[in-house]
This record gives sequence, C-alpha cells and structure tokens, in this order.
Amino acid sequence: MKNILVTGGAGFIGANFVHFLLQAEPQAKIVNLDLLTYAGSLENLKDLPDPTRHTFVQGDICDAELVNRLLREHQIDTVIHFAAESHVDRSILGPAPFVQTNVMGTFTLLEAAKTFWAGSGGMAGRRFHHVSTDEVFGSLSPKDPAFSEATPYDPRSPYSASKAASDHLVRAYFHTYGLPVTITNCSNNYGPYQFPEKLIPLMVLNALRGKSLPIYGDGKQIRDWLYVEDHCEAIYRVAKDGQSGETYNVGGGNQPYNIDLVTEICSILDELLPKPAPYAALMTHVTDRPGHDRRYAMDITKIRRELGWTPRHDIESGLRATVKWYLENTDWVQAMLEQDGYGDWLDKNYKNRS
Ligand code: NAD
Ligand code: TYD
Repeated sequence: MKNILVTGGAGFIGANFVHFLLQAEPQAKIVNLDLLTYAGSLENLKDLPDPTRHTFVQGDICDAELVNRLLREHQIDTVIHFAAESHVDRSILGPAPFVQTNVMGTFTLLEAAKTFWAGSGGMAGRRFHHVSTDEVFGSLSPKDPAFSEATPYDPRSPYSASKAASDHLVRAYFHTYGLPVTITNCSNNYGPYQFPEKLIPLMVLNALRGKSLPIYGDGKQIRDWLYVEDHCEAIYRVAKDGQSGETYNVGGGNQPYNIDLVTEICSILDELLPKPAPYAALMTHVTDRPGHDRRYAMDITKIRRELGWTPRHDIESGLRATVKWYLENTDWVQAMLEQDGYGDWLDKNYKNRS
C-alpha cells in the first residue's frame, strides 16, 4: 500500500478510514475521490493527522475519464471502495441513484483498475478492496444462525440489492480477469461523523432538539452494531493480508433490539445532559419501514481465524463515546443540521408516518 485511492472518503466510514489509514501507514499517500453528495462533507476531514499525504478530489466514481486519470497520475496500487448511496429509507423513496452509484460506479472503478494495472506491470502487489454490507444476506428469523460467508444472497431493499449486484461484479472481475479483489461484508456501524439520517445520530440529535424519537414498528428489530474504528481496522487488515478473491464477514457481536438501543441512548443523555423530563419520553412508535429486515447477525469466525481481527469496543463503551462525541462536536452537528435538504428529508421520510 503506497498510493491509495479511497472512494467515498468524505462520508461516515470513509472519513474515519482516512483518519485511521494516515496513522496506520505512515508512508502512504491517499487520493480521496468523493462526489460530496448530501452524505459527504469536508467537515469530516478537518484535523487529519497528516494532511500533506491526503489529496481530496471532488468527483463521481461513474466518471470513467476522471477515474482513469487519477489511477494513472497517482500511480494507484490500492483501491479502497466506500463510495455508495447507503441509506435504506432513501433507497425506498428513490432507488435510481442507488443503481447508478452502487452498480455502475463500482463497475467503472473495476474497469479502470483492470485496465490500468494490466497495462502497467500486472496485478502483483495490487489490491481492489470493496466495502459491502451484511444486508445482502437478507433477514434472519429469531433462531436462524448468524450470516456466514457461505450464506446465499437474498437482498430485500433497493439498497441491499444494489450492493449485492456490486459484490457480484467484484467477484466476477476476480474470476474472469484475475483482478486482485477482497470484499468485507459488515454489519451496522456507529461512531463519529455519521450523518444524522441513520438510527443512532438521528436519535441523539432529535433528542437534543426535543423532537420525537421515531421507532419503526414495534422496535424489536435487531442489528449487529460495530464501532466504526473497529470496522476501519478490519478493512485495513483484509486489504493488506486477506486472500485475493475472498470475502470476510465483519460484525460487532452486539445485537440489542432497536428499542433497547434507543432507551440506552436516552439514559446516557439523561446522565450527560439532564433535562427536567427523561429523554425516553420522546420515544414514539411510527409506521414501519416497508420490507423492514427483522434481524441481522454476523458470524466472524473466518476473519478472526485467518487475520486475528476481533472488535475492540463493546456496545456500552462505544455508544457512550459516540454520544459524547455528538455532544462535544457542536460545530459539526450544527453544520449537518443546517445542510440544504436535511429538513426536507426529515419531512419526506417522517411526516406521513402515523
Ligand atoms: P455514507 O452515506 O456516509 O457516505 C457515502 C460517501 O460516498 C459520501 O461521502 C458521498 O458523498 C460519497 N458518494 C456517493 N455517491 C458518490 C459517487 N457517485 N461518486 C463519488 N462519491 C460518492 O456511507 P457510509 O455509511 O460511510 O458507508 C460507506 C460504505 O460502507 C458504503 O459502501 C456502505 O454500503 C458500506 N457499509 C456501511 C455500513 C453502515 O452501517 N453505515 C455498514 C456496512 C457497510
Ligand atoms: P438504519 O440506521 O437506517 O440502518 P439499516 O436500515 O441500514 O439497518 O436503521 C437501523 C435500524 O433502526 C433499522 O432497523 C431501522 C430502525 N430505524 C428506526 O426505527 N427509526 C428511524 O428513524 C431510523 C432511521 C431507523
């Protein structure tokens, strides 16, 4: 890893990864290609540990000419691909950009890497790492075993279907063209810099503003929560030492009901920033998400056995650190709340839910 193209590095996980990588690889140079959609922000890239080794390029991963030029000009040997449309609720209300970015964007990057590396010394020492999700495996019943790498794909939202399509393309480029790829399928992340459309930051920011905390359906859905820094480390380990052509499942082993997670956020807030009424009084059940996956859980035996990775954070410490981060980073919070279109999104997604 010398010259690394990170896509989507102004988003939540990508930005955390850029921070992580600048420390983990003291010689590496990073080119960060991000379109800066609503989900990406340069606010996430302030205070980088060594900004001279980071070059930000605003652009679209679907722009083949731009991607080809970046690979050539920066002699890229490693691609770490985060860029995506990532929010299930947005994919339900408007699936087109999900197909465009997640499928066509991944295809564009694969083509560019294949062509550039084939024409400049071959595939040895190169790596294309694709960041994917547990949602490609579908939904588990209460007694089903956790998803393993061998679980058949069964995506059920436009988001997960588009990620599944991109995973298939990545594997096809390994089998057909010998592109040195790895994939991580990870469970729900939480931590600093997450855009307040996803469950945890939405609940924290709504609570701070005295707004209701919308629980979809009965709130008994289950996600397998992982602190984002642990995910960054897993991606780094797989991209460096994972076997080419292989997929690794990544998860946190923390699987509370949504409603219990939100209750815990409320009690952390009660302790850190007490108000006359408990924050839990703001919790409100609202109409469920269509096609809502009931339960996810990840079997991480493979990554633990082959690479020795396990999560360092449990949900208690990770959640507390996350809530504290949102309380302390008031400028960042303000910038997200004032972003053009954020209020419109809240109206669009929540106004018609009873
Ligand atoms: P995010 O929505 O916070 O960030 C996505 C980033 O991609 C943004 O900075 C956005 O500007 C950029 N982007 C979008 N379209 C682009 C395009 N066409 N060209 C260039 N840049 C573009 O997403 P995230 O939560 O950081 O997720 C990153 C990756 O990790 C995604 O591939 C997602 O599927 C995957 N993932 C996320 C989670 C999670 O819990 N958030 C879990 C597992 C896997
Ligand atoms: P989310 O953060 O959108 O991640 P994903 O859908 O990719 O798992 O949602 C996490 C869980 O929280 C999911 O079961 C849906 C639920 N949820 C709510 O109950 N209310 C909300 O306002 C949001 C955004 C999510």
